[in-house]
Parts: sequence; C-alpha cells; structure tokens
Amino acid sequence: MNSISHLSRREMLLTSGLIVTGLSQPSLGQNPGSEKDLVFRTTDPNNAEPALQRLVESWITPTKYFYVRSHAPNPLINASDFRLSIEGMIRRPLTLSLAQLKRFAEHSITATLTCAGNRRNEFNREGNVGGVQWEAGAIGNAKWAGIALADVLKHAEVLESAKHVWFEGLDQIEKGDAIIPFGGSVPIEKAMLPVSNTQTHPGVLLAYTMNGKPLTADHGYPLRTVVPGYIGARSVKWLGKIVVSDRPSPNHYVATAYKIVKKTQAIDWSEAGPIYRYPINAAIASPNPNAVVAPGALTLTGYVLPSGILGSRVKRVLVSTDSGKSWTSAELTGQDNDYCWQLWKANVQVTGDTTELIVRATDNRGGFMPARVPWNAKGYLQNSWYRLPIKTR
Ligand code: MTE
Repeated sequence: MNSISHLSRREMLLTSGLIVTGLSQPSLGQNPGSEKDLVFRTTDPNNAEPALQRLVESWITPTKYFYVRSHAPNPLINASDFRLSIEGMIRRPLTLSLAQLKRFAEHSITATLTCAGNRRNEFNREGNVGGVQWEAGAIGNAKWAGIALADVLKHAEVLESAKHVWFEGLDQIEKGDAIIPFGGSVPIEKAMLPVSNTQTHPGVLLAYTMNGKPLTADHGYPLRTVVPGYIGARSVKWLGKIVVSDRPSPNHYVATAYKIVKKTQAIDWSEAGPIYRYPINAAIASPNPNAVVAPGALTLTGYVLPSGILGSRVKRVLVSTDSGKSWTSAELTGQDNDYCWQLWKANVQVTGDTTELIVRATDNRGGFMPARVPWNAKGYLQNSWYRLPIKTR
C-alpha cells in the first residue's frame, strides 16, 4: 500500500491545498476522549455515548459522560484568531472576536441536548437504518454559559423581513465531491427569545463554557450554539458564522438531513420539513439489558425528557413488568427546569414471567410516548415505549 492510500479524501484535499480553511486547520484524530467514560460508536470522527447507568448518576451530566456527535474531525481553532461573523438581513454586519463577544451580558442556563438519532438502533429491528447506531445514551444535561443570541442580533439590527437564522460550523465534512461545514437553522422567533438566568424561558445561547469550563474540542471549542428544546443538530459546534435570512438554511443538515422520510428520493427530502423540537422521551438505565434478576422487588432507574415546548413538564413516568398489562408510577428526582430532563426511580415486583421492563411517559403539553413509532429511513425521533429485555432466575 502506498502512503497516499492511507489518506482520507479530506486529508488529500488538505495536502493539495484545495481546502480553504479560513480560521483553522482540522486536527485529525485530536481529542479522542476517553474510552473508559464513553462507548465509541466511531472514532473518525468521534461519536460516543456513555453507559446508561453512569449517565443517570447525576442530574447534571459531567462533561466526560456527555455524548459526542460529530460529522467530521474536530477543527483545531486558535482562540486568539477566532472570529464570529454575523451577516445577511441585518443593518450592521459584524465580525467579532471572543473578547468582543464576551462584552455582551453573560448568561448561564441548564439545558438538555439530545441527538435526533438517539435510540436509532431500535429501528433496526424493523428495517435497516444507516447512521451512528445509538442506543439510548445520546442525551445529556449540562450547565452552559455564554451570551444571548438575541442580544447579538439586536445589536446587528435585524431587518423586519427576516424569518430564519442560520448557524455555520468551522468543521469540514466530506459530502460526495464537496467539503461542507455543518449547518443549523432556527426560526427568527426562537432566535430572538431572551435568555434569563432564572431557568424560565431560556432562549438561544452562544455558549463558551460547559459545566463551568471552556468547551472541550469535542463539544465545540471555542463557541457553539445551545438551542434549548430543539434536536441537538441545531446546537452548532465550532460556530463561525451566523446568517440572518428570509428562509431556512440551504445547508445539507437542514435542507436534506434531519428530516423524517420513509424513502430517500429527492422528492421525499423536498416534501419534508426540518425537525426542530424534540419529542418526549424516556429510557431505563438500570438494570442493564439482559440482566438476570431474582423474582421479587426491583428498583428501576432512568431518565425522562419532556417535549421541547416552552413550559413543558413531565406529568407521569410509568413502568411495567408484565409487557404493558399493568403500570406503576415512578418517582421523579432532579430539578424541574424548562428544557431539562429529569431522572426517575421506580420500585416494581418482578415475577418468573417477566421478560421485559417497559417505561413510557407523558408531559403537560400533550406529549406521550407511543407504543410504537413508525419506521423512518434515517432513524430519527425514536420515542416509543422503551423496552428492556431481562431474564429471571
Ligand atoms: N456542529 C458541528 N459544527 N458539527 C457537527 O457534526 N453535530 C450536531 C450538533 N452540532 C455537529 C454540530 C449534532 S447532530 C448533535 S446531536 C450535537 O451537535 C451534539 O453535540 P455534542 O457532541 O456536544 O453532544
């Protein structure tokens, strides 16, 4: 094998100078994270989730147990060279350094991020879905600090006719013959929501810290969006550009990916709209799948996330040991904040006939977990009853 065959297409383009990197060169394989804390589904790029038992040890997810979902290697960004540009339908285009961004008022919020592909592996029981084979760990709840997107947009003076705000990352993703950045998009009404420190109505944050420390490379250093209530794909990491527009972003990850489609012809993508909010979801973290348990009392633990609608709160978490014939209420633990998950605990009786444990949940905005979610080609938004197989002795 000659040396060039070891190079990825991205590396070859870089070596040949075909990539215009702007602010940073990708650092291949940088910051791989720790294999003892996360289960890596892929390592180039990093895609990893924690073991569920660790994930529910605390309401705030320690950064080392926070899932990582990246479409390309982490770009290596020198914070002193970093600039965020704000352009499009505004009266005052801006190019701001980190120091200039930090002159806006700082806000701190707690918000749960979850990947639209969380629990994708369950769709494979019905039909093959490609993509990262997530179990139920592509979710985490962190404390984020940064500045309000709304404050920056007000300063930039958004035109009245603006309808959407696009986000563009500094990563470089191979798509066919092209190299593209990851992009996100939110309606202007979401972008202009204020951010408060009181945990009510948290709007969109341009975050530079996670759990009290600068963002790690895996989580978007030095700047990312955090869009509470929306699928993780809208929280763009390594944020380099904001564009105010009268339409949603044409970026692949808004215009094509992250849509619910049965088939993947051009017409299917065109007819489906981008996913914004996440639906209610829950999973059982303990016991482990296929655990052998003695008949009798058993304590189950897990997480529950109410749907990503303002003011949404978990109403009920119900568990079953007899395949859904009868249900027991779980007790919620952890804080009850806007756009945050809760943890839960339930004491149940397992019998010799128990083959699976099930959890389902409802919220006060009409959200519920259906017994079954129709299969979709990209394996997004799996929020059917979470079924955990077990064995009894
Ligand atoms: N931003 C960029 N620039 N590139 C990416 O690949 N992945 C998105 C989003 N932002 C992504 C990105 C997806 S699909 C998710 S679910 C979240 O980041 C994951 O954030 P995390 O890795 O910090 O958990």
